[in-house]
Amino acid sequence: MIRYQHDLTGVGADDLTGFFEGWPTHPSAADHLRLLRGSALIALAIDGNRVVGFATAITDGVLAASIPLLEVLPAYRGAHVGRELMRRLLAQLADLYMVDLCCDDELAPFYEGLGMRRAIAMVRRNYDAQAGRRAPDLDT
Ligand SMILES: CC(C)(COP(=O)(O)OP(=O)(O)OC[C@H]1O[C@@H](n2cnc3c(N)ncnc32)[C@H](O)[C@@H]1OP(=O)(O)O)[C@@H](O)C(=O)NCCC(=O)NCCS
Repeated sequence: MIRYQHDLTGVGADDLTGFFEGWPTHPSAADHLRLLRGSALIALAIDGNRVVGFATAITDGVLAASIPLLEVLPAYRGAHVGRELMRRLLAQLADLYMVDLCCDDELAPFYEGLGMRRAIAMVRRNYDAQAGRRAPDLDT
């Protein structure tokens, strides 16, 4: 049975495998854990010990938030895990003026089903950093 949580209690890098499907390069499990730690809010779907879906939000805490990442492992898709992760994040952000995210056109109905609406987005991608920014060197 899938359970949901909003912190990293009991979650290690070993529990974060199989994500970033289709990314030519992607963060390691350790960097995945690091980006979850660095997010203002997270929602995790967990089956046993394994994380099977996650969503992240970053926010200024006053007006605005964005949701950069949402993914459900392929074997768990189509069972409303993605919707539940989003529902939980959006509920925690309900008192903010703006919540933005980018998605491909075919996913717009998924987000419309969560009360969001289409807009034009502008993005920049630095593919040299697709596996994640280098961790700060703690020795210096
Ligand atoms: C997008 C994603 C998170 C959806 O997760 P999921 O758990 O399979 O989605 P759900 O089962 O919660 O779907 C909720 C509803 O949205 C619909 N939906 C899901 N994916 C959809 C898609 N690609 N296109 C259109 N509708 C979709 C479902 O059919 C379902 O509709 P229903 O309520 O009528 O049954 C998942 O497919 C995924 O991880 N994809 C790869 C990563 C990705 O694209 N992330 C989003 C980045 S913007």
